[in-house]
Amino acid sequence: MPGATLSRWTMSYFAAACLMLLAGQGLMVAGYGYPAASIGAPETLVLVHVLVIGWLSLLMAGALLQFVPVLIARPLVGGRFAAPALMLLLGGLGFLVAGFIGLSGALDLPLALLPLGGTLLLSGFGLIAGLLAATLWQARPLPLPARFVALGLAALAGTVLVGFAFTLALSGLAESDTLTQLVANGLSLHAMLGLAGWLTITAVGVSYRLLAMFLLAPETERRSSRAAWWIAALAIGLAAAAVPAVLFSLSGSILLAIALVLSLAAVLLYGGDVLHLYRARKRKQAELNIRATFPAFVSLAVSIVLLNLPAVRAGEGVAAAVYLLVFGWLTGLGLAQLYKIVAFLTWLEAYGPVLGRAPVPRVQDLVAENRGRILFFVYYSAVAAATLALAVGAPGSFRGAVGLQLISTLALMREFVRARRLTVVPAATRSPAGMVRPHLFLPLSLSRR
Ligand code: HEM
Repeated sequence: MPGATLSRWTMSYFAAACLMLLAGQGLMVAGYGYPAASIGAPETLVLVHVLVIGWLSLLMAGALLQFVPVLIARPLVGGRFAAPALMLLLGGLGFLVAGFIGLSGALDLPLALLPLGGTLLLSGFGLIAGLLAATLWQARPLPLPARFVALGLAALAGTVLVGFAFTLALSGLAESDTLTQLVANGLSLHAMLGLAGWLTITAVGVSYRLLAMFLLAPETERRSSRAAWWIAALAIGLAAAAVPAVLFSLSGSILLAIALVLSLAAVLLYGGDVLHLYRARKRKQAELNIRATFPAFVSLAVSIVLLNLPAVRAGEGVAAAVYLLVFGWLTGLGLAQLYKIVAFLTWLEAYGPVLGRAPVPRVQDLVAENRGRILFFVYYSAVAAATLALAVGAPGSFRGAVGLQLISTLALMREFVRARRLTVVPAATRSPAGMVRPHLFLPLSLSRR
């Protein structure tokens, strides 16, 4: 990987994220939150934020700490803030969740926990966005994948600020007509900025580079990719512009509807680019992480089409469409790329020091693809079943399908642990003299910068 140095805390971000994914799915299997509770119930807010902050945002932040320097071939600025940012994000999520639990009445917890969590989250995300923005700043004019990341970071700022305002309003700490308007009408904007802006646009940007790299395809900035960026930027701009509109009691729903149509256009252009990269690949046999990404692309397209249908947006179908976006697209892509990235970073950490001095295994020797293939098949089948169960309003089947999803993710995580421990590496090349045995998820030396 050109320009690759190891980001010390990325594996810790990944480990925390994986635990949160298990926790979120566990809650759904137990029947906590939607569909047992209503979409806006505090229990659902717990579930949503364990998944979107705990799982997806930590995963994305950890991946960006590693890959932004690769995208621009420059070193990370302020890498020493990665560990404090992780602590702030975990602490902030803990308080936010505690505040939501207080709101649900299940435990007698003070609502002031909500803005306390919001403040820590604002600081943690601020640190991450700040150090990534400072890193990107050195490389202007930015290559296209990095421009997607910059756009994603801007959307993250919007998401977190609106989320923070929600915490002030819900706790009763600050009261004003403007805040009341925002809480009443700003929820879909917060969700769109977070799911489509921060998480999807950033994933798209990183995937342009990763796909080209893993498929050995030529990296050219196509006109369609540039158009996808401009259209995505316009969509996010409209969603952001809808926030002040809502504050002044204007309806933001037209702006949101246009933003969704634009998102669909951007997704179609992106899909064309992915097909182009696949056809132009030099590596004829695509590895499992690439093949396991295809159902994620399909999920993205289907969920954005669904969200563009007014009947879906207005009814319960919105939950099924968002579920497909979160688990089919974002989580599917995340797990598929983790499958390769964990092996790759482990390989670099373990065998990088002896490269050229002793025979070392190949990256693909760290994973057992035949097992992984079955697990991804089970995972995506379970996601499809769970989405369908939500769409037709069958909560019992939904919990069963999420149970299967949970088992397959647990088994995939066991594969990640086996890659970290070099368990499947052939004994002949596993331990050449001078190799380094990586820790499971902490950096090798806490004193080394
Ligand atoms: C990082 C990505 C984020 C995403 C994708 C996201 C997504 C969402 C979604 C989908 C909802 C609506 C859930 C429902 O109706 O059941 C929501 C509500 C909420 N979010 Fe977030 N969120 C994010 C970050 C944050 C942050 C950082 C905070 C706090 C600083 C926050 C605070 C809130 C609050 C307080 C609500 C409830 C608002 C209300 O019910 O009036 N969110 N979020």
